[in-house]
Amino acid sequence: MNAPSPSFSDAVAMLRTTADTQLSGGRAQQRLVEVDGQVREALEEVESALSTAVREGAVPATDAAAHLLAAGGKRIRPLAVLLSARCFGQVTESIRDVASAAELVHLATLLHDDVIDDADQRRGQIASRRVWGNAVSVLAGDLLLTHALERAQNSASPVTFRELLQALRKLVDGEVVQLRGRAQFDATEATYFQIIEHKTAALFMWAARAGAREAGADDRAVDALGSFGANLGIAFQLVDDVLDYAGEATATGKALFADLTEGKATLPLIYALEANSALRKHVDAAAAGDADVALHLAREVVAAGATDRVRVLAAQFGTRAEQALSALPDTQARRVLAGIAAQISARAC
Ligand code: IPE
Ligand code: IPE
Ligand code: MG
Ligand code: MG
Repeated sequence: MNAPSPSFSDAVAMLRTTADTQLSGGRAQQRLVEVDGQVREALEEVESALSTAVREGAVPATDAAAHLLAAGGKRIRPLAVLLSARCFGQVTESIRDVASAAELVHLATLLHDDVIDDADQRRGQIASRRVWGNAVSVLAGDLLLTHALERAQNSASPVTFRELLQALRKLVDGEVVQLRGRAQFDATEATYFQIIEHKTAALFMWAARAGAREAGADDRAVDALGSFGANLGIAFQLVDDVLDYAGEATATGKALFADLTEGKATLPLIYALEANSALRKHVDAAAAGDADVALHLAREVVAAGATDRVRVLAAQFGTRAEQALSALPDTQARRVLAGIAAQISARAC
């Protein structure tokens, strides 16, 4: 339970893991070295700030929060803040605080999301809610959200703080719209995109905009990084939804087919039902918890080409994210961000 905090290498484990895939060849290993050169120290300081933050409050909420932090995670949002800032200069203490705030918001949403989704597993560990219960998990999420807001209000400019509130409002909207459609399995592609733009891409967009603005970028550059973050966030969630059908639970640290059993019609299922409407008859049984039917349906979703189709789409959003960077000065940090965007659609965890 009291595992040590993740090291820098763990923080960017996604980059290392994707390095093993045929899709990315040796490029991802190189990227890891580049990230290291750009923001290693800052990310280590973020890590130690996070370890302190999860202990600030009353037990057992702090235990639940510390458990989630110690379980690992890719730290992709603080990385987006730091690298976006590095496109314009050095990372200051207040920018590190903004990066910590980005991960604290994310941790809070994970604690809440696992309650909403009845999830048992998170980051390869038993979910906090399964150890301490839903009530403690909700309060632990509230605690971390409060830490995040405090940090952002103290360290960021008023406009960055305002934008964080806007991102949070979108995130909640996205989760609510998703919840509304749960168990009906009649979501359209348009509704799906509305959900993921809000629940996931809004925070990525904020992270990239915040890093740029706090490092002194002009409005045009802040918008370019915002477009980068939004497209990256969409690509990221598309792949998360692919991995739920076609990933390895040991790599993602989450149970497979969870979206199906949680009643979520994500894009792989939407495309599979479009390609083969006969699959619809299995959906209700899978959602009701029949594990054999869920496994069968998941295989059919992959066999229908739906996960490949979503991967292709994710790659297109990754390319859009890269293209958004062309408005920025050519720096090493910009190249690293472009590399991360390219790797997102190939990621396996
Ligand atoms: C999980 O985010 C929630 C989604 C938006 C899909 P991550 O995949 O970034 O989670 P960690 O932080 O690496 O555990
Ligand atoms: C992530 O959506 C939404 C958040 C804002 C946390 P998911 O429900 O797909 O995330 P996982 O798969 O549980 O990480
Ligand atoms: Mg979930
Ligand atoms: Mg998911």
